[in-house]
Amino acid sequence: MAEPRKIIIDTDPGQDDAAAIMLALGSPDELDVLGITTVAGNVPLALTSRNARVVCELCDRRDVKVYEGAERPLLRQLVTAEHVHGKTGLDGPVVDEPTMQVEAQHAVDFIIETIRAHEAGTVTLCTLGALTNIAHALQKAPEIAPRVRELVMMGGGFFEGGNITPAAEFNIYVDPDAAKIIFASGIPIVMMPLDVTHKVLTYKSRVEKIRAIGSRPAVAMAEMLDFFERFDIEKYGSDGGPLHDPTVIAYLLRPELFKGRDCNVEIETASELTVGMTVVDWWQVTDRKHNAKVMREVDDQGFFDLLTERLARL
Ligand code: RIB
Ligand code: CA
Repeated sequence: MAEPRKIIIDTDPGQDDAAAIMLALGSPDELDVLGITTVAGNVPLALTSRNARVVCELCDRRDVKVYEGAERPLLRQLVTAEHVHGKTGLDGPVVDEPTMQVEAQHAVDFIIETIRAHEAGTVTLCTLGALTNIAHALQKAPEIAPRVRELVMMGGGFFEGGNITPAAEFNIYVDPDAAKIIFASGIPIVMMPLDVTHKVLTYKSRVEKIRAIGSRPAVAMAEMLDFFERFDIEKYGSDGGPLHDPTVIAYLLRPELFKGRDCNVEIETASELTVGMTVVDWWQVTDRKHNAKVMREVDDQGFFDLLTERLARL
């Protein structure tokens, strides 16, 4: 068995972030979660940090280290998404307030120190929210960029358009200036845009399979999905909501579930009409450098089978 892959999960929980964290913690043979770093996004930082610890305690993993990061984007005012995730950001299950503490070290310093401390090319960054923490880390310690193995991110959208504006997906929209830095950094990027995540829908049958596991984390996850999907069903009229963030972790576990291509991706940061748009040169109509592997297809049943199987291990 190969060594588990070392990852840092940067996140703004969020029910779908919670699913991603549980998928990672349910896969200890393949993934070594070096730490969870929180960022403001779906809800303010104090809540994303609370929620990350709630999820760790639901999984009985008080040993996981949670580091608090940026409470606002690099330049813009914070935009949050309580309309999707509820007031707490983790509405759905009744949960206990966490008793585990956040670490004293700032998330940005943890990211820098961890990448410096581990052999070059061995740490993978998994980003599930705005890219603010990663951008701060690259600004503070530019020499870490070539040491990062890969940055696998949920963010952006192209053929699928946006979900917070007609042009922009939420994670990029919250901090487009941070995204611009990341896409210019030279770090190998794998991008899970709405084009993929709108194909992994939490059908009732899928949520019931998770609930039927019967464990505390699985039942809590099912209750999170009961809450989370109501918004997207109203909006898209779909049976179930898109389960965005766990696609990042699923890619690390079973990359063959996904299909995409190397593309150039640029970030709109100037026009108020399209700020936060990920301009993906899918048809290679320019000679701009490829800077991301952009996913577009997914085996959605295979994805949910993996998620359910790993939740059952918690
Ligand atoms: O647009 C979806 C993304 O924004 C997901 O990561 C969700 O958790 C929110 O952060
Ligand atoms: Ca998220």
